[in-house]
Amino acid sequence: MLRELQPDVVIHAQALSDVDRCEQEPALANAMNAETVANLAQALDATQSTLIHLSTDYVFDGTKGSPYDELDRPNPISVYGRSKLEGERMALSYAASVVIRPSTLFGPGRMNFCDHVVSCVKAGQAVEAFIDQVTSPTYTEDLAEGISELLGVIDRASITTFPSRILHLANDGSCSRLEFAQRIVALLGAPRAQIRAIRMAEQGRPAPRPPCSALTTQYVPRLIGRRLRPWDEALQAYLASTDRLRGPAITGAGSGRTGH
Ligand SMILES: NC(=O)c1ccc[n+]([C@@H]2O[C@H](COP(=O)([O-])OP(=O)(O)OC[C@H]3O[C@@H](n4cnc5c(N)ncnc54)[C@H](OP(=O)(O)O)[C@@H]3O)[C@@H](O)[C@H]2O)c1
Repeated sequence: MLRELQPDVVIHAQALSDVDRCEQEPALANAMNAETVANLAQALDATQSTLIHLSTDYVFDGTKGSPYDELDRPNPISVYGRSKLEGERMALSYAASVVIRPSTLFGPGRMNFCDHVVSCVKAGQAVEAFIDQVTSPTYTEDLAEGISELLGVIDRASITTFPSRILHLANDGSCSRLEFAQRIVALLGAPRAQIRAIRMAEQGRPAPRPPCSALTTQYVPRLIGRRLRPWDEALQAYLASTDRLRGPAITGAGSGRTGH
């Protein structure tokens, strides 16, 4: 298909992003997060396309104590993180590729932690939120816009002059899951008591998560002249855009055990 279409750009966002499932099915994780990328890189050799490959903050162990930039050394602590790091290696084996690492995603489409909190709040149910996991929540619309702006400065020739082919693209700042949930509750005007602060270990999930995988960037402002806006502004924009501040409970909240 790639040979036939000869696309200018391929944005590769496919993955098995259910971190716990990856831990339980490492062969599947490797197939879906690394082998797929190896196959893609090979297929791209018959094209002149640029590859944008999506990776993750979970390639880091989360022990640095401050946000990770592109120069920090990955050290994944889960099957998911290791398979994604291998996927990065495969993507970078294709010369005209850029790896983009966002952090905890929220936005329209697939159920995410933000939607889960909104849904519980509207249904009057309690929500558990981790006090000991810090990330840089990233609005998918902002991520898409950032990628689109990057594509304005990326082409096959310019990639070779890039200071780094790995870029961190996340909304600015960081917070714990607890702070994130509390902010959603505040924006919805619901009682703070609905949020129950817990530690990651209390849920006994199969996969370990990095305690602090907040991201920052050395390179994105040099390329597109800006950082993505602060996560709080992005969260307000998302909640306003989807009418979650007013509408009825959204469906499909499940257990709240969203992939990341
Ligand atoms: N979620 C996060 O918080 C987060 C944080 C940082 C980075 N990331 C990265 O961001 C990217 C997107 O993650 P996401 O959470 O948005 O994942 P997602 O909701 O699970 O989306 C993954 C997409 O890949 C497709 N897919 C999976 N396996 C496929 C296969 N074998 N063939 C074709 N399509 C397949 C899925 O299709 P279906 O819809 O048909 O299932 C889905 O559209 C991934 O690279 C992930 O590692 C995610």
